[in-house]
Amino acid sequence: MGFRQLRLLLLLLSVAVAFVSATDHIVGGHLGWNPNINYTLWANNQTFYVNDLISFRYQKNMYNVFEVNKTGYDNCTMDGLAGNWSSGKDFIPLDQAKTYYFICGNGFCFSGMKVSVTVVHLLNASSAAPPNASTHGAAGSAAPGLRPWPSNPAALLVAAVASMVIGSGVGI
Ligand SMILES: *[C@@H]1O[C@H](CO)[C@@H](O)[C@H](O)[C@H]1NC(C)=O
Ligand SMILES: *[C@@H]1O[C@H](CO)[C@@H](O)[C@H](O)[C@H]1NC(C)=O
Ligand SMILES: *[C@@H]1O[C@H](CO)[C@@H](O)[C@H](O)[C@H]1NC(C)=O
Ligand SMILES: *[C@@H]1O[C@H](CO)[C@@H](O)[C@H](O)[C@H]1NC(C)=O
Ligand SMILES: *[C@@H]1O[C@H](CO)[C@@H](O)[C@H](O)[C@H]1NC(C)=O
Ligand SMILES: *[C@@H]1O[C@H](CO)[C@@H](O)[C@H](O)[C@H]1NC(C)=O
Ligand SMILES: *[C@@H]1O[C@H](CO)[C@@H](O)[C@H](O)[C@H]1NC(C)=O
Repeated sequence: MGFRQLRLLLLLLSVAVAFVSATDHIVGGHLGWNPNINYTLWANNQTFYVNDLISFRYQKNMYNVFEVNKTGYDNCTMDGLAGNWSSGKDFIPLDQAKTYYFICGNGFCFSGMKVSVTVVHLLNASSAAPPNASTHGAAGSAAPGLRPWPSNPAALLVAAVASMVIGSGVGI
């Protein structure tokens, strides 16, 4: 394989890694961040990896987001306050392997606007529930602990082009 092909391949692979490593978990999916939704069910339906994002979409003069600790989450208080967001479309990086606790202020936490997510290392996720196959397209039977890949059409395309580049190389 020539230098240029190798460089292209490396570039494509890094693009593919970028696609794989930054899932944006939209809280509540199309229901967004609103009262009377069971966000435990939402959170149980997916796997959160380090460096994923969680995003909250909501009516901004009504709701907001606070990161608190477990005491704050359990009791709908500001205990362990670690951050606050109120843009109506907040992207929060999940950059540590830990359980994050988010609640809404203005009393809406008591109406169910609370969510806890446990974030695991991508290559170390064997103790986490496997991602729901249907959430991630067709890749249902990936190795345990590995994110099903490719998880989106863009990654598939990159993979296809990359294999063409490899295929055109000499001596493979
Ligand atoms: C949300 O769903 C979970 C899992 O089924 C359940 O344990 C929990 O009690 C529910 N919470 C509410 C507020 O209904
Ligand atoms: C996966 O999704 C299906 C619906 O598509 C649901 O019935 C099932 O309970 C989900 N599994 C988990 C582990 O959440
Ligand atoms: C709040 O939640 C914690 C558990 O996280 C519990 O021990 C405590 O009794 C609750 N109540 C208050 C007022 O902190
Ligand atoms: C949460 O923070 C409060 C106040 O900072 C503290 O008293 C409490 O022990 C913390 N709870 C947990 C579970 O760490
Ligand atoms: C919200 O966060 C900002 C920093 O991002 C901080 O200055 C402000 O005091 C916080 N407000 C509350 C109510 O915690
Ligand atoms: C895997 O998880 C363990 C704890 O569960 C942690 O100590 C270790 O550093 C993790 N390894 C990697 C590569 O993340
Ligand atoms: C779990 O994910 C599947 C596939 O995306 C979806 O059909 C289902 O509604 C989800 N369940 C919950 C409770 O969010």
